[in-house]
Amino acid sequence: MKREQWKTRIGFIWAAVGSAVGLGNIWRFPYVVGDNGGAAFILLYLLCLALVGFPVLIAETLTGRTTQKSPSDAFYSFGKSKLWKKLGLMTIITGFLVTTFYGVIAGMTLGYLFESLKGSLTHFASTSDALNFYTTVSSNSSWILLAYATFSLLSVLILYTGVKKGIESGNKIMMPLLFVVLLILVAKGLTLERASEGLKFLFSPDWKELSPSSIIKALGQAFFALSLGQGTMVTYGSYLSKKESLPGTCVPITLFGTAVSILSGIAIFSIVFSAGLPASAGPSLMFQTLPVVFSQMTGGYFLAVAFLVLLVIAGITSQISALEPLIAYFIDDKRWTRKKAVTVAGLSSFIFGIPSALSFGLWKNVTIFGLSIFDAISFLCVNILIPVGGLLALILVGWRYGIHKAIKHLEEGTQKLFNRFGFFKWYLKIGIKYVAPTLIFLILLDLLGIIKLH
Ligand code: ALA
Repeated sequence: MKREQWKTRIGFIWAAVGSAVGLGNIWRFPYVVGDNGGAAFILLYLLCLALVGFPVLIAETLTGRTTQKSPSDAFYSFGKSKLWKKLGLMTIITGFLVTTFYGVIAGMTLGYLFESLKGSLTHFASTSDALNFYTTVSSNSSWILLAYATFSLLSVLILYTGVKKGIESGNKIMMPLLFVVLLILVAKGLTLERASEGLKFLFSPDWKELSPSSIIKALGQAFFALSLGQGTMVTYGSYLSKKESLPGTCVPITLFGTAVSILSGIAIFSIVFSAGLPASAGPSLMFQTLPVVFSQMTGGYFLAVAFLVLLVIAGITSQISALEPLIAYFIDDKRWTRKKAVTVAGLSSFIFGIPSALSFGLWKNVTIFGLSIFDAISFLCVNILIPVGGLLALILVGWRYGIHKAIKHLEEGTQKLFNRFGFFKWYLKIGIKYVAPTLIFLILLDLLGIIKLH
């Protein structure tokens, strides 16, 4: 079977940006920053991106591009053993698990889109009104299941046509538009009273605010935001031609994603501080802040609809990128047709996500280690499985396959860049082989309580 390829380098960049940019940046980043004390956490996050996230992004896309295979076969090609094939499969399963909780929150944004069309999002006088609305709809089983099912169906319909066709062209328009809408929200947020306190919270670090678990959370968020450790970037890299410069494509992906996260942070925290809301409101933060602004501004109705349309699209492009590795596995390994692969993967993801959806209401008292089902799956994926997946890619490329051979492949399409910026090659070499794996390893040991980093 002939492998599909991205038509252009820009096509790959936009597809990867579509995968990277999503609810992780707009919904998750602000509330994790809020929970972890603000600016100091952002600096830690940026450090994790530079020292660990970016090298992992290169290692994963390089593995895909060099082998032109989906993760388990790609890991097998580089690792030359059944164990590596299984480890590759593990990253695919991580991607699958991600879709089960991600689909729920993305479904919620779709539900909010319908509410915005009905005009229900534009008459909130305060953030507590908005929170009441959020609690009422999210705990209503029919509301959340219908929204989640519709979102899952939309994702599956797009996956049927193949990731490349629709996404390559669609993202080129949607992602810049999302950026523009975010800029409008930022501009509005900054005009609010006490918005400057929000900026201070985001940009003036107070190291005492960092909690012991901040490091793993910053690392997990950096990985999640770049869709790492879940087979996505290996799979997307496998559709990329060897002529392209990998660092040249990965830098814009990282920068765009980070810019979206920071802009979302500014929009949300200017509202949080102007409303006197606690920064650590948790996962409901976006839902209890933005509708207040939509309610207060002229044209708020249209801005709400536009924002939510784009957010749903950003959610779909991320959701399908997390499910695509399993689909590619079924197609490459099991020789299934795309239709069968998409149906089985999509349906299973939907079914496995139902407990997470119900954990906002009907099953809210069911807890795992003190967390709701949704929070537990999200914690397991973002803070454990994804960093482990990233670590595996680094060990595979840096040690098992060998950094020298890997850099030779990386030079394909990148020679000019490396000639101009020699340090960049060294940064990647040392980053992939030593710095990034050591840091992830230490952070995981800390998480398991084997060592204490703080
Ligand atoms: N990288 C995806 C996002 O940030 C999962 O939404």
